[in-house]
Amino acid sequence: MVEKINLNPAVPPIPRYKDKRGVDVRYMLISPYASAHIFWDSKINELVYELEEPILTEEEKALLTRVEEAMLELINVNVAVENTLEATTNYIDKTARLLIDELNIKITSESYKKIFYYLFRDFIGLNEVDPLLRDYFIEDIECNGANTPIFIVHRVFRNLRTNIVYRDIDKLASFVEKLAQRTGRYVSYAQPLLDGTLPDGSRVNATYTKDVSSRGPTFTIRKFTKIPWTPIQLIAMNTLSPEMLAYFWLLIENKSNILVAGGTASGKTTLLNALAFFISPEARVVSIEDTREINLPRENWLPAVARTSIGVGKVGEIDLFEILKASFRQTPDYLIVGEVRGKEAFVLFQGMASGHSSISTMHSDSVDTLIRRLQTPPISLSPTLVNTLDCVVVATHARVGKQETRKVREIVEIVNVNADGTAIVNTPFKWDAGKDIFYSKKQSKVLEKIAMRTGTPIDKLYKDLVTRAKLLYTLYRKGVFDFDQVGWVVNEFHKNPVAVLQRYGIRE
Ligand SMILES: Nc1ncnc2c1ncn2[C@@H]1O[C@H](COP(=O)(O)OP(=O)(O)OP(=O)(O)O)[C@@H](O)[C@H]1O
Ligand SMILES: [Mg+2]
Repeated sequence: MVEKINLNPAVPPIPRYKDKRGVDVRYMLISPYASAHIFWDSKINELVYELEEPILTEEEKALLTRVEEAMLELINVNVAVENTLEATTNYIDKTARLLIDELNIKITSESYKKIFYYLFRDFIGLNEVDPLLRDYFIEDIECNGANTPIFIVHRVFRNLRTNIVYRDIDKLASFVEKLAQRTGRYVSYAQPLLDGTLPDGSRVNATYTKDVSSRGPTFTIRKFTKIPWTPIQLIAMNTLSPEMLAYFWLLIENKSNILVAGGTASGKTTLLNALAFFISPEARVVSIEDTREINLPRENWLPAVARTSIGVGKVGEIDLFEILKASFRQTPDYLIVGEVRGKEAFVLFQGMASGHSSISTMHSDSVDTLIRRLQTPPISLSPTLVNTLDCVVVATHARVGKQETRKVREIVEIVNVNADGTAIVNTPFKWDAGKDIFYSKKQSKVLEKIAMRTGTPIDKLYKDLVTRAKLLYTLYRKGVFDFDQVGWVVNEFHKNPVAVLQRYGIRE
């Protein structure tokens, strides 16, 4: 039997490098066969992305070509794609062995495994681009023709040159035909523009030309992440407790400003999206991101995507700063910013100070570093502006037993930022790594602030918190996980809390 192929190896934490020249990162894409290697190439003074795949000897290459040709005649590729992964894998395995047997060739099991990988990649997947499509960190894949490398946009390292180059215009053209086929479209010289969606939701744009004066066909694939997780799914993953979610529910209903902090791939965006479920249904929401990831179960919502173009030239670049400025003209009640990186933070915090609440994410491993980063260049906010932040939630990678998980490490309230830039904080919730439980202390400065501002007795707020936590926990117990269902319950609770509590048998 061939080694089991794992198409979803765990997403690793990637350290941030101060100096690009020190970068040397490797992670699996299709385990155990294909991995990504990102490093500083001192010959060209550039950070590069190298796709590492099994290396074939000349004999193995020849054999692969023969088996592939024979297989093309046998396999109905669509049947292969529509079946389960295991069934198709087995089918390819069986057919390949049979063909090799018929050709009367003896090969070692090591050689066979390598050949099998390529058969799998090319028949089920999208050839050399397939491992890239499975790379969690890749946002865009761009090919500007033959004899020029494919470029990618990486979440952490941004624009990178890859070691993948189409040497032959015909081969590139047939790849574009394959892309068209997978999107259910058709390209030809008469209809040379392709605009479609791959089965996984990624957008494809391509041009189909054999014009020799140009470099031939081109394509861009923009990846789209799957349907986001609901707060209830995060309870199921034990990422945070129902009480913590109920706390956020109250904060968000009362228009607090929240920042999700954490390292690379620590679950920030996932958490941000889950929290945004709690925004009141009638509130006007504007979201701004680099890549479309946020998805909300609501109508009153205006999503915007800022793009930096890749490859050559900078045509069509719209930056976060401009979009953010424009967004305030839409007078949003809630502004969701996918990731705050630089000078746009100033506009965001000014917006917050003038009553437009926001939830956003920022790359940072701790609250201290975050507070410092906000006040130093290029962001350089004044302590007063930082003070408009109500709380910071820290997301983190964590290993519990043998399991790679994501946790909310702590929720930290910003009580006050002193003139010297230091912050007085309060930590109402904290995760205990040793016991894998969440501790809460019954004293929230932000809830006290809300009580004062709205004239609600603080005890009423705490009681509310407990009731909502019960509701969320009950939804979890009853298996109400689904995007639409959870969205419905939260929106319904807003209109008629008593009915919803009754429906789920919850006593206040
Ligand atoms: N609560 C969770 N439990 C388990 N896995 C999670 C959880 N949240 C996110 N993940 C997984 O971790 C990966 C990263 O998630 P996400 O994109 O939310 O992180 P991020 O911190 O926003 O990353 P980036 O630094 O790239 O912006 C995804 O593969 C996602 O499926
Ligand atoms: Mg993110």
